[in-house]
Amino acid sequence: MKKKILVTGGAGFIGSSLVKQLIKEPGNTIINIDKLTYAGNYETIRELEKLGNYFFEQVDICDESKVSTIIKKYKPSNIIHLAAETHVDNSIDSPREFLFTNIFGTFNLLNLSLKYWNELDFKPKQDFRFQYISTDEVYGSLNKNEKSFSELSPYDPSSPYSATKASADHLIRAWGKTFNLPYIITNSSNNYGPFQLPEKLIPLTIIKIIRNEEIPIYGDGNQVRDWIHVEDHVRALSEAMLNGEIGETYNVGATNERSNLEVVNLICEIIDTNFSKEKKIPSKNSKELISFVGDRPAHDIRYSLSTTKILNELNWEAQIEFKEGLTNTIKWYLENKEWWLNIIEKNSQIISRKGIN
Ligand SMILES: NC(=O)c1ccc[n+]([C@@H]2O[C@H](COP(=O)([O-])OP(=O)(O)OC[C@H]3O[C@@H](n4cnc5c(N)ncnc54)[C@H](O)[C@@H]3O)[C@@H](O)[C@H]2O)c1
Repeated sequence: MKKKILVTGGAGFIGSSLVKQLIKEPGNTIINIDKLTYAGNYETIRELEKLGNYFFEQVDICDESKVSTIIKKYKPSNIIHLAAETHVDNSIDSPREFLFTNIFGTFNLLNLSLKYWNELDFKPKQDFRFQYISTDEVYGSLNKNEKSFSELSPYDPSSPYSATKASADHLIRAWGKTFNLPYIITNSSNNYGPFQLPEKLIPLTIIKIIRNEEIPIYGDGNQVRDWIHVEDHVRALSEAMLNGEIGETYNVGATNERSNLEVVNLICEIIDTNFSKEKKIPSKNSKELISFVGDRPAHDIRYSLSTTKILNELNWEAQIEFKEGLTNTIKWYLENKEWWLNIIEKNSQIISRKGIN
């Protein structure tokens, strides 16, 4: 079926992977709107400009007039909303932008989508979906032995970031209940893979090792996350777009729980064993670079998702094995230094934070 998909945040880590995957489907047209904040990287997707079925608009999702013009111009069949401020540490240091983009920006898109949807003819109105990419962090923190979160778990966000994501989830459900706007929400666990901004745990650890710098781990490093490869996540988003039920929420995880320290240790081992000589990595024993720093406030202990619903209802499950996905990701960062050096040059603060996560 021909789809015109308006993606927000398509110059970010997950958004760019999604755009690249959706554009491959014959019949799809993609309209990517992104403000290009420090987290957006247009070089990641510039090559798509050659294609006749890809359009980019540099726009802030909070800008009512510009977003309205874009919706009227392109008449999307689907909106997939990923644009957000995403780094928890930033949300602690300066939460304001998180409230604007993650809450007000989502409200703006909902409001304009509803206006547009109400005026559509019967068939496009039936087919339209507003899809939101949320996080497992909305459910809050689990202790080591507690049961994984399901889609019915109550919300209990800890950080300003997760509180704004939870707010957006609530707004979207309210637009569904009150105005019948057809929506789907997915809540994903921690993503990793190529093109992730060097401020997040996995790329930053790799880069610290390449630069022979300390790897500053928050607290004892025993915080547990469920790591999913971005390509698996993007497949789930496609599946939810095509076959998800209106008004439903799907958890997207890989059943791959690891502590931060375990992940960092594994990166050290993979680099030391497979890449150290060939890539001329200065440190022979990368684990010596690990240092522990004071913990982040309200640092969640553990995230864990039950993915039974998405398996049973959409027949989706993660396929990329962690060690293999991690090895390929490390290889990508080693072979694409220019990509991340360019980013670091423009935003030196992203690799000089107190701790990494
Ligand atoms: N990365 C993860 O592990 C993870 C896990 C679960 C959910 N999510 C969610 O997935 C989405 C994408 O995450 P990501 O890791 O790709 O983020 P990212 O930080 O890499 O990219 C965010 C993108 O949004 C754009 N953006 C920010 N503010 C904007 C605004 N006001 N208007 C338009 N564009 C704006 C940025 O320029 C950037 O391109 C986010 O909504 C995030 O909350 C991420």
